Amino acid sequence: MKSILFLMLIPFAMFADKPGDERGVNIKDAHSYSNPAEIVVQHLDLNLKADFSTKKLVGFVDLQVKNLTDADTLRLDTYNLKIESVKVNDAPVKFILKPADEILGSELDIPVTASTKVVTINYETSPDARALQWLSPEQTAGKIYPFLFTQSEAILARSWIPLQDTPGIKFTWTATIHCPKELMALMSCPQNPKQIGNGNYSFKMPLPVPSYLMALSIGDLAYKAYDNRCGIYAEPVMLGKAFHEFSDLPAMIASAEQLYGKYPWIQYDVLVLPPSFPFGGMENPCVTFATPTIITGDRSLVSLIAHELAHSWSGNLVTNATWNDFWLNEGFTVYFESRIMEKIYGKDYADMLNLLSQNELKHTVAVMGDNNPDTKLFLDLKGRDPDDGMGDIAYEKGRFFLMALEEAAGRDVWDAFLKKYFEEHRFQTMTTEKFVKYLDANLLQENPLIKQKVNVDEWVYGTGLPKSLPVIKSRYFDTVEKAAAAFIKTSAIPDTTRWTTHHYLHFLRTVAPEMTYEKAVALDNHFHFTQIQNSEIAFDWFMIAIACHYKPAYQALENFLNTVGRRKYIAPLYRKAAADTTLKPWIEKVYQTARPGYHAVAVKTIDEIFEGK
Ligand code: BES
Ligand code: ZN
Repeated sequence: MKSILFLMLIPFAMFADKPGDERGVNIKDAHSYSNPAEIVVQHLDLNLKADFSTKKLVGFVDLQVKNLTDADTLRLDTYNLKIESVKVNDAPVKFILKPADEILGSELDIPVTASTKVVTINYETSPDARALQWLSPEQTAGKIYPFLFTQSEAILARSWIPLQDTPGIKFTWTATIHCPKELMALMSCPQNPKQIGNGNYSFKMPLPVPSYLMALSIGDLAYKAYDNRCGIYAEPVMLGKAFHEFSDLPAMIASAEQLYGKYPWIQYDVLVLPPSFPFGGMENPCVTFATPTIITGDRSLVSLIAHELAHSWSGNLVTNATWNDFWLNEGFTVYFESRIMEKIYGKDYADMLNLLSQNELKHTVAVMGDNNPDTKLFLDLKGRDPDDGMGDIAYEKGRFFLMALEEAAGRDVWDAFLKKYFEEHRFQTMTTEKFVKYLDANLLQENPLIKQKVNVDEWVYGTGLPKSLPVIKSRYFDTVEKAAAAFIKTSAIPDTTRWTTHHYLHFLRTVAPEMTYEKAVALDNHFHFTQIQNSEIAFDWFMIAIACHYKPAYQALENFLNTVGRRKYIAPLYRKAAADTTLKPWIEKVYQTARPGYHAVAVKTIDEIFEGK
C-alpha cells in the first residue's frame, strides 16, 4: 500500500524502468551526445512559427529538466540549427555549439546548476533541415497550397528541435504552432479535428514519448471520422478515396486490442501525405503518417496500416532503447501486423503476405552474405548512420524469430507471454539483453522444450538464418508457381481470375529471373503493367523493365520517379538502372530532375548510389 501511494505522488516514477533509472536514462546511446543519466528532459514545450517563404521553423523550446546528479552541463543534440540564445531559469547564459559531425550533428552544451528547472532555447531551422520537407503546391494533390511534414525517426528530430535525441528517454510535451491561416497544423498527439486554428494551433501530449516520435504536418487538410476515436486526415481531394481505402481501420484496432490490450493512445488517425513522403508509413503517436501510394482502390495494401497501428504497442509503448535494438521495434511490429491481418482477412491471406516477406528475407540474406554481421538482430551501429541498420533483417528476421517462438510455445502460451510483456513494460524502453532475460525468466525456464526447438542466442546474436526459421506454405501461391512455370516455359499467359495484388507480386517475382524482352511484351500486352496504378506491382514491373531493357515502360518509370519519393521503391530502381552501363546516363538525368522533389532521407540514400557507395 505504501509503495502504491509513493508511486502516485511521483507521476514520473510510474514510467520508471527500475528505481533510480527513470525512463531508462542509464543506457548509453552511441547516436546521441546527450547525458540523460545526469540531467534528463522530462517535458518539452515548443513554440514555432512555420515560415513557408523562407522554409524555416522559427521560435523557441522550453525544456523542463531534472538534474539527477548535480550535473554542470546539459548536452543536447542539434543538426544544422541556428541557435539564437539560451536561457536557464529565465537568465541568459553562454552556450557552446560544437563542430558538426556528418551523422550526429552538433552537440549543444548549456551550463546548468542543481536548481535548474527550465532551459529555454531560441532557434531556427535551416531550409534544408533533414527532418523537414517543404513542398510546393505542385507537389500536393490539391496543387493550390504548400505543405510541410516532418520525419524524425531515427535521429532527425534534432534537425528541428534541440533535444535529447535518444529513444532511451521519454518526455511529455506541449506545443504552439503558428502557420498561414488557410492551412491546418497537426501533431503527434491527441487532437480535436474540429479545432479551427486560424493560423494558431496548440497541442498537448500527456503521455511520455521518445524524441523520434515528435511529428508535425501543415497543409490543406480535412478530416473524416470512422468513429469517435479514429479517422482520416488528407487533402480534401484525397479524403474520399483514402476514407474508402482504410475503412477496416476500426476493425484493425479492435483486433489489435484483443491481442495486446487496450489501445493506449486515446485516438488513432491516419494522415495521408503527398507522394514524396520517403516511407510507406511512420507510426507517429495518435496519427500515423502514410504514403498515398498504398491507395489502390481495392484495399490490397492496407497491411501497412496494420503495421503502423501495431507500433502503438511495439515501439511507441515499449521502445527500443538504442538503434542497435531496432529489431525490438520492427520485428515485433511485423509479427503483430501479421496477426492483425490474419484475424481480419484470414490465415490464407496472411500466409501469402508472410511468404512474400520470407522470400524477400532469404534474398536479402543471400545478397548480404550468411556471415555478414549486419544480419544479426542485435546490431552494432556505433560510428554509422542508424539508417544502415534499417533493412529486412530487423523487420523480417525479427518477425520470424517471434513466429518460431510462437510455434514452439503454442499460440495461447505465447500470447499470454506477450500480453504480459507489453503490460509490464508500458512507457518504458527495452534493450535486447533485457528482453532476452525477460523471455528466459518468463517463458523459457518453465518450458524447456521451447529452448530445444529455438536457439535464442543464435537468432539474436548470430548471423544468417537459423535452422528453426518457420516454414511458410501458401496454397494460393502453389497455383501461382504452376502458372509461373508454364509462363517461363511457353510464355503462356496465366488465368488470373480471382488473383489479388499478392498473387501478381508472387508471379512477377518468380518469373523475374527468367524474363526476356519478348516475355515482357507478352505480359504487358495482356496485363498493361506499364500503366498500372498499384505501386507495389508497378515497382516489380519496373525492376523487370530495367532488367530486360523494356523501353516501352521507361516513360512511365520516369513519371513514377518524378512523383513518388518512397525510398523503398525509388532506391532499388535507381540502383538497378545505375548499375546498367547503357541506362546509366539516362537515369542520372532522371535523378537530376527528380531530386529536388525528394525528402532528405531519400536524397541521401540515392546520392550514395550515384557516388558508388
Ligand atoms: N518506423 C518505420 C519507418 C522508419 C524506420 C523510419 C526507420 C525511419 C527509420 C515504419 O513503421 C515502417 O516500418 N514503415 C515501412 C512499412 C512497413 C509496412 C514495413 C515502410 O515505410 O516501408
Ligand atoms: Zn515499422
